[in-house]
Amino acid sequence: MGRTKASDLLLLKNRAWAEETKARDAGFFDRLAQTQSPRFLWIGCADSRVPADAITGTRPGEIFVHRNIANLVVHTDLNMLSVLSYAVNVLEVDHVIVCGHHGCGGVHAAMGTKDLGLINKWLRNIKDVCAANRAELDAIADPHLRENRLVELNVMAQVGNLMKTTIIQRAWKKRRSPWLHAWVYDLGDGILQELEAVAPGTPLEYPFALDVDGEVEPE
Ligand code: CO
Repeated sequence: MGRTKASDLLLLKNRAWAEETKARDAGFFDRLAQTQSPRFLWIGCADSRVPADAITGTRPGEIFVHRNIANLVVHTDLNMLSVLSYAVNVLEVDHVIVCGHHGCGGVHAAMGTKDLGLINKWLRNIKDVCAANRAELDAIADPHLRENRLVELNVMAQVGNLMKTTIIQRAWKKRRSPWLHAWVYDLGDGILQELEAVAPGTPLEYPFALDVDGEVEPE
């Protein structure tokens, strides 16, 4: 065997965690291995400083998680749509939380003009939010505050994108759930804030409301 790799430390820590958890609650793993019934879907940024379970005090089994750069809800993203569909239709979560964070590298990059290669295509979604809110953003003199505001506008835009999916529209019609939440996390003090909560059944503006009476799930 060669030198100890940094990743070996994670495996060691995992052993310690599993032993401690079992010592505290002997049935913990048996119970969780049977089934999961989380009440929340979290769509967050991939940023290592924003771990969904740690900052919400949730334990294994309590929160279903999807993360990508800058917490985007993109209608051509099969990964996100599959997670959303499973969480909403099978797990029947009651809350979908889109969580952004101040100091987001994705949002920062999207506000700039640098050619970043492949990631340009992903950041385009945030640039669209920036362009759509140009007047409000231009009125903020402090670049730091301007960037924080785009983080917030981006989270709310992604909640808007959730509403536009047939997955959400059909679930609202069928079972009056889930709630959709726009949250922002402050890296500076660890505090989460709710910017917006959208109740099931909230009407969509033209032309985004779809006829979702059928049982077909086209995605
Ligand atoms: Co981020």
